[in-house]
Amino acid sequence: MAKIVILSGAGLSAESGISTFRDSGGLWEEYDVSVVCNHDSLDINKDITIEFYNKRRSELEDKEANHAHKVIAQLKSEYPNDIAVITQNVDNLFEKAQMKSDEVIHLHGFMPEIRCRECEKVYDIGYKKLQDFNDGQCLECSADLRPNIVFFGESAPMYERLNAEISNCELFIVIGTSGEVVGVNSIAQYVTRSILNNLEPSRAIEDSLFSKVLYMKATEAIDEIAKEIDDFLE
Ligand code: APR
Ligand code: ZN
Repeated sequence: MAKIVILSGAGLSAESGISTFRDSGGLWEEYDVSVVCNHDSLDINKDITIEFYNKRRSELEDKEANHAHKVIAQLKSEYPNDIAVITQNVDNLFEKAQMKSDEVIHLHGFMPEIRCRECEKVYDIGYKKLQDFNDGQCLECSADLRPNIVFFGESAPMYERLNAEISNCELFIVIGTSGEVVGVNSIAQYVTRSILNNLEPSRAIEDSLFSKVLYMKATEAIDEIAKEIDDFLE
């Protein structure tokens, strides 16, 4: 298990041009989360839901990893066994920063992938529309395919990896998440040292629980965070 856990959210990708969820102008202001990201969305709003993810998938094509993704990728390659990179983000910007797929834990799924609703087989379709892949049907069993994204109310198996990684984490770093979904307060409470980097305070995060708080852009905070990681692991 890693000594250091870096948990990120939508704020990490904001400077790459990918909108966050709950900031002003965020995704959940534009779309009703209960329509397109609920466990029953594909049954009651199938077309709107498929189209919502097709649009977000295609928008990834021209997005680039920013300085924060690249520094984290560099740190992971320098300290492969000491750092766990865990993200709530479903974009592929860590992968665009040359991280291998087994170096990043995507808690809420991965936008370039679609999954069979029956046999669970996963296909990587890049930036294409779901229905343009074999008419939206599984190659193995012909059942309907769906975005490989965790919707609210669905099981999120990768949380077991998060719990395992934080079990003996000594330095917990939070970058760009409001804490509305992954509760970061309880983790910050029992690790030796913790760093919070957001643009501004969040009602879901008790920042006094963190050893260090950086209210600034991730691309500005990341160099200070990297120095702290280097010092911690030297
Ligand atoms: N640098 C650092 N932090 C930033 C930046 C930035 N450039 N821009 C925004 N932030 C911070 C905001 O201060 C906010 O705390 O990122 C956070 C974004 O919060 P949310 O929009 O709630 O995104 P996130 O926490 O990732 O949402 C968690 O909710 O809807 C679900 O599955 C979805 O994974 C998502 C989860
Ligand atoms: Zn199938």
